[in-house]
Amino acid sequence: MSLAGKNLASGHNAIAAARYRQIAIKDKKVMEKKLFDAISLRKSTRNYTNIDIEKKAIKDIENFTSQIPTLSNFKVNFRIFKNEPGIIDLIHPLSSFLIQAPYFFIVSCRKEKNYLEEAGFQSEHLILYLTSKNLNTCYIGGMIDFIALEKKIHLPDNEKIIIFSPIGKSKDNFFNFFQDLQLKTCMMITGIDLNRKKLNEIVFHNIWENKDIVNIEDKLLEIFSQVQLAPSWCNIQPWRFIVTDSKIYLFMANPNLKDEILGHKNTWDNDYRKFDVGIAMSHFNIAAKYLNFRGNWFFPTEKDYDKLLYLKVPSNIELISVWDKSL
Ligand SMILES: Cc1cc2nc3c(=O)[nH]c(=O)nc-3n(C[C@H](O)[C@H](O)[C@H](O)COP(=O)(O)O)c2cc1C
Repeated sequence: MSLAGKNLASGHNAIAAARYRQIAIKDKKVMEKKLFDAISLRKSTRNYTNIDIEKKAIKDIENFTSQIPTLSNFKVNFRIFKNEPGIIDLIHPLSSFLIQAPYFFIVSCRKEKNYLEEAGFQSEHLILYLTSKNLNTCYIGGMIDFIALEKKIHLPDNEKIIIFSPIGKSKDNFFNFFQDLQLKTCMMITGIDLNRKKLNEIVFHNIWENKDIVNIEDKLLEIFSQVQLAPSWCNIQPWRFIVTDSKIYLFMANPNLKDEILGHKNTWDNDYRKFDVGIAMSHFNIAAKYLNFRGNWFFPTEKDYDKLLYLKVPSNIELISVWDKSL
């Protein structure tokens, strides 16, 4: 090819590459908006129709799972499977509402550093993607025999199931109303608050428990209002934030719940509060990207731990992550 021909070809390649980049950026923006909008639409659904889901939709969901971002390059595994009689046997009768759902997803991983935060962060991306596709879900951390399910799906020995969710369409009927009422009564008896915490109960300014948040910028408060909507184990909402000029510190609080509830364990004695905090990080991240708020989550360094004394954080409160506004 002549030099002029080569230049022309490389010119075409550059245009094609630029166009491809533009499409990729546009696709990314569209997805960011979908996930952001889904935050306010999502609700745990405990009653399903048995209407099947199209094969194409299942393929799309599988594709999406391969693109979910991570906090530290550690990918958890998502498996989507069709509901079948063997699975139903593993579900506790109290969760019999699940048996109608046509599909489930299970989240599993190896036991690596911060695996629970990663599992929460990545799972919530999938939950919100499903919400954006008009599919309903509900995290299920109890009431299913995870050990038996691990055997049934031949999970490798070094992996464990972290959580599980039905995928399907909500059945809105009278029966649903009674089921919700039953669940709410159960939660109230065990001391669980069904309401979301107020913003100044989860966000503090400069020091621990400084509830005067009026001087925090509006965009950041809007992001926190998306975190407020995050789902959590027994709705305990264990996330707490301290906003400073350059960083946002994220902590896991010790909610005042009855011991037997906090004592809930699954096969690795998982403390679901860490999973919940991972969910909160995903809501924060999705809202921040959508609203063009600069920064990223990082796991804490020695310097961050040294700062806790100045932030007046009580010793029983665990620092989980730090949002650096400059990076
Ligand atoms: C880690 C985790 C485990 C959960 N386990 C269960 C469960 O076993 N059964 C159930 O009905 N709901 C479960 N939930 C759903 C919560 O009860 C629900 O998110 C919370 O009450 C807030 O309600 P919402 O999701 O409708 O906003 C779980 C949620 C999380 C995050």
